[in-house]
Amino acid sequence: MIEPQRYAVIGNPVAHSRSPQIHAQFARQTGELIEYGRLFCELGRFKATVDEFRRSGGRGLNVTLPFKLEACAYASRLSQRAHLAGAVNTLKFDGDEVLGENTDGVGLVNDLGIRLAQKLDGARVLIIGAGGATRGVLLPLLEAGVAHLLVCNRTPAKAQELAGLFAEGALLARGHGERIRGAGFDELQDVRLSAFDVIINATSTGLADAALPIPRSVFVSARLAYDMVYAPRPTRFMTQAHEAGCPRTSDGLGMLVEQAAESFLIWRGVRPDTAAVYSVLRAELDAAG
Ligand code: ATR
Repeated sequence: MIEPQRYAVIGNPVAHSRSPQIHAQFARQTGELIEYGRLFCELGRFKATVDEFRRSGGRGLNVTLPFKLEACAYASRLSQRAHLAGAVNTLKFDGDEVLGENTDGVGLVNDLGIRLAQKLDGARVLIIGAGGATRGVLLPLLEAGVAHLLVCNRTPAKAQELAGLFAEGALLARGHGERIRGAGFDELQDVRLSAFDVIINATSTGLADAALPIPRSVFVSARLAYDMVYAPRPTRFMTQAHEAGCPRTSDGLGMLVEQAAESFLIWRGVRPDTAAVYSVLRAELDAAG
C-alpha cells in the first residue's frame, strides 16, 4: 500500500490553525495522497523539531507565528520573495535541500485579482503598517504592476526604511524603486497625494476599538478596503472604511486560502481550486460568529 506523504503546520500556538482543514480539502479535490497535521513546537526548539519531522519522513511544513524568521534561517535555499520578505511560511524538503518560500504575498495578490476582480496593474495602492505582515507582501504587489505603493505607518521611519529596502539594488533596476514610498499618517491629509484604488490594512490592530487616523476622503475614492486579518464579523478597519463611504470591503480569509494553495502547488505541482474551499470556510466562520 502507498503511504501518504506527510505535511504539517508548525507553530506555537498551533491548535487554532485552519491549515489542516484547508489542505485536507485540497487533497480530496486533487486526488493527492497526503496527510497534513499540526506540529506544536516549544520555543527554542524549532531546529530540533523540524529535524525530527524530516527524519520521520515529513516532506514540507507551513510555518506560523512565531517561527517565520527561524524558518528563514533553517532553509538552505530561499526564493527571492522569501529573501525580501525576511520570513518563510513554507518549507519544502527535498533530500538534503530545504527550500524556503513565502506565499503570503502571492496569496494576497491572487485574492485581490481573482476573487475580488481588482486590476492591480497600474493601480494605486495604500498599505497601512510596516511590520512583518507588510514586508511579506510588498514584492508580489510590485510584481503585479502596481503603479504606486505607499506604505503608511504610525512610526513613519519604519515605513521609510521598509520602502527603501524594496527600492534598492536589483529592484530599482527593474523599475520598482520609483513606485514604492514610505510615510506617516500625516501625508494622507493632503488630498492631492492621497487618491488610492485599493487600501490594505496590515497593522496588528484587528478588532481594536480605535479607528486608524485615515481621513474619510481616502476611503471615498477607493474601490476596495482590504483587511489582512479575518473574523466572523467585519473588522474595525472594514467598518471604518464602510462608514466613510468605501464601496467595498473584505477581510483576509481569501488570502489565507490562496497562500495555502500556493504552498500546495510548491509541494505537489498541482494548483487546487480555491473558490470552493473559500466558500466552505466562510460559511463555517459565519456560523461560528
Ligand atoms: P506583524 O508581523 O503582524 O506585521 P508587527 O511587526 O508587530 O506585526 O507590526 C505591527 C504593525 O501594526 C506596525 O506597523 C505597527 O505600527 P508601529 O510600527 O508604529 O508600531 C502597527 N500598529 C499596531 N498597533 C497600531 C495602532 N493602534 N495604530 C496604528 N498602527 C498600529
